[in-house]
Amino acid sequence: MSEKLKIALIGAGNIANTHIGAYKRIPGVEVYAICDIDEKRLNITANQFGIERRYTDLDKMLSELPELDAASVCVWNCNHAECTIKALNAGLHVLCEKPMAYNTAEAIAMKEAAEKNGKLLMIGFVLRFSNEAKIAKDLISKDLLGDIYYAKAQFIRRHGNPGGWFSDIERSGGGPVIDIGVHVIDLTRYLMGLPKPVSVYAVTNKKLGRRDYLKNHVDWAPLNASPSDPDTVEDFATALIRYDNGAVLSLETTYDINLPDNNTRLLCGTKGGLSIGEREMILYNDTDGFLSDVRIDKRNYKEAGDFFVAELSHFVDCITKGVKCQNPAEDGVEIMKILDAIYESARTGHEVVLD
Ligand SMILES: NC(=O)c1ccc[n+]([C@@H]2O[C@H](COP(=O)([O-])OP(=O)(O)OC[C@H]3O[C@@H](n4cnc5c(N)ncnc54)[C@H](O)[C@@H]3O)[C@@H](O)[C@H]2O)c1
Repeated sequence: MSEKLKIALIGAGNIANTHIGAYKRIPGVEVYAICDIDEKRLNITANQFGIERRYTDLDKMLSELPELDAASVCVWNCNHAECTIKALNAGLHVLCEKPMAYNTAEAIAMKEAAEKNGKLLMIGFVLRFSNEAKIAKDLISKDLLGDIYYAKAQFIRRHGNPGGWFSDIERSGGGPVIDIGVHVIDLTRYLMGLPKPVSVYAVTNKKLGRRDYLKNHVDWAPLNASPSDPDTVEDFATALIRYDNGAVLSLETTYDINLPDNNTRLLCGTKGGLSIGEREMILYNDTDGFLSDVRIDKRNYKEAGDFFVAELSHFVDCITKGVKCQNPAEDGVEIMKILDAIYESARTGHEVVLD
């Protein structure tokens, strides 16, 4: 392997900017090249970070730069599979952003491409690298929750459809379920010990739409988002996901709703329950016969850090030090099965049973 790990960015949009900023903080890594089908976006990002090798054609980049070691795939969901498989076939290790793919069939093809080429395929479930996840994992490993049999995950945006390709089902594959719900489905499943999903019952709605008429700004908008972009995704979803160990996850996620923003994540076990919030974490249990609420003091947490830097450092360590990947492709496939089942159940009105 070359002296510095040579990374290519595939996609030059918002999250690519975050990846580049994080890679720049990791020793032994060089952001070597960048590719985007949108030349304007490509040049804005490449100029900002001083990246000389820039391409609008992925095949050209991969054939002209055989010295590349790895890539971050940061493109529209509909192109995750194609870009990832091309990079793997060119001999690169790949970190693909969430959701892993547009559907389960694509996710399986990506996993098989990684296996065929003997390369790493890591999925960008960044919340696993959050300080809260580290603390929760630690509490769980010490058996403070006991047998976790219920989780509740809410990722509720009162007004948060980013527009652009995000609201175009052809490019995104769906709305809040596949965009933000995916984060908390994965996080809770990870903390529950990665049980296999066995069935899903879900309802999705499109009641409010993108509400472009509102005067309130929405974050996360792609650079070229315009009111003329299609708005063809759900704005609301609720789902019950059963796992093979008998545990259940209740999910609620929205882009637009007449309720406040809410990021509640709850894990409930036989010995304790845990409320995971960005501001505070509370362990609910009993002490000497009394119900007790233990507030976790996260101030000056010694292992605190930026979750994107932690995620990409892990990707680099997997490649350069042979560290076991914490976010392997197989987890991405399981999550894609859940996402597909949510949409199928919502469409048919019936529970979907998974293999
Ligand atoms: N981990 C997170 O928290 C997080 C946050 C935001 C976005 N994401 C994910 O990152 C991906 C990109 O989202 P974004 O917000 O950066 O969107 P964005 O629109 O800002 O950027 C996407 C870029 O991909 C480019 N692109 C599309 N197809 C391409 C192809 N075949 N080859 C090269 N470039 C191509 C587009 O031209 C665009 O510039 C999505 O999958 C999204 O779900 C993850």
